[in-house]
Amino acid sequence: MNTDKPIKILAIESSCDETAAAVVEDGRRVLSNVVVSQIDEHKLYGGVVPEIASRRHVEAITGVVDKALEDAKLALSDVDAIAVTYAPGLIGALLVGVNFAKGLSYAAKKPLVPVHHLRSHIASNYITNTELEPPFLCLVVSGGHSHIVAVDDYTKMRIIGKTRDDAAGEVFDKVARTIGMPYPGGVNLDKKAELGNDAAYPMPHPRIPDAPYDFSFSGLKTAALNVINNARMKGGEVDVQDLSASYRRAVVGCLTENFIKAAEDLGYKKLVIAGGVSANTLLRRELERICGEKGFTLCKPELKYCGDNGAMVGAQAYYEYISGNTADLSLNAAATKSIEEG
Ligand code: KG4
Ligand code: ZN
Repeated sequence: MNTDKPIKILAIESSCDETAAAVVEDGRRVLSNVVVSQIDEHKLYGGVVPEIASRRHVEAITGVVDKALEDAKLALSDVDAIAVTYAPGLIGALLVGVNFAKGLSYAAKKPLVPVHHLRSHIASNYITNTELEPPFLCLVVSGGHSHIVAVDDYTKMRIIGKTRDDAAGEVFDKVARTIGMPYPGGVNLDKKAELGNDAAYPMPHPRIPDAPYDFSFSGLKTAALNVINNARMKGGEVDVQDLSASYRRAVVGCLTENFIKAAEDLGYKKLVIAGGVSANTLLRRELERICGEKGFTLCKPELKYCGDNGAMVGAQAYYEYISGNTADLSLNAAATKSIEEG
């Protein structure tokens, strides 16, 4: 493929509770990035209600895509391809984006580029760190996944370790919700944790025998929930700041320990983090410190690109597109799909 001329991709994301679209040039330059969040509505229920998410995507998607083109000062005919998150995620939510993208691709006669959600989280780093190129080792931590991924090339990935049960974002949200913080709790727990004593509540450090790169967070979550329930049974309450700090320290301790061990064992010096939980203040601070001590480089997405957005989809889509990974109108959404399959 002749790549002399800049390639502009219109990218759509609707895998969970954000309806997002962006135009990205050559995988690195963001010409527009529009995100409409449904968080305020899901807050009422303490978590994402899939049926509501699908409906809100249907209502928002036309306006979001129009605005992304308008902000980029482009017409649909000016873009080279239409990209869309097709897996993994909430199936009803994904289908809204996939069907909309298929319609645009057909109407405008533009190639359709399917993008894996976790691959796009990794690609958020190409926007912020314009010199970053594979190979590198990436810790991908979101509401639904916790993976250590060897990124051999832009579209070639291997899972080195993953959670055996809950994802890091999921357990942050669960404990935050039980303490009484609004959804999504991870960011609120992070803020409270900054003010607390992280040694106040001793927490376990789960390790999986013979699988040093895998995670297990459900026991850690239960330990924190037990602290809260025990306090309540005695008619008291936990110290929110101290429990947040102790729990965050424990979760981040597991993430950093396994990630750094994998990097050392496999010989990586270039480390990258991605996904909603990569916004965590302690995770960023701890990895900066450890990487500084060990002489590793660490790339982090800008905070605005940590959560779900269209720009990261456009970034990954560029590399999928130039590798020839396009789809026809039979493209379907998938609730689960390995990052290795793409
Ligand atoms: O990647 P993402 O936006 O959506 C998924 O693909 O799942 O990740 C959302 C997750 C939520 O669980 C949210 O609580 C968590 O990322 N999160 C955080 C922080 N900001 C977002 N977790 C810990 N600390 C944060 N600062
Ligand atoms: Zn995500």
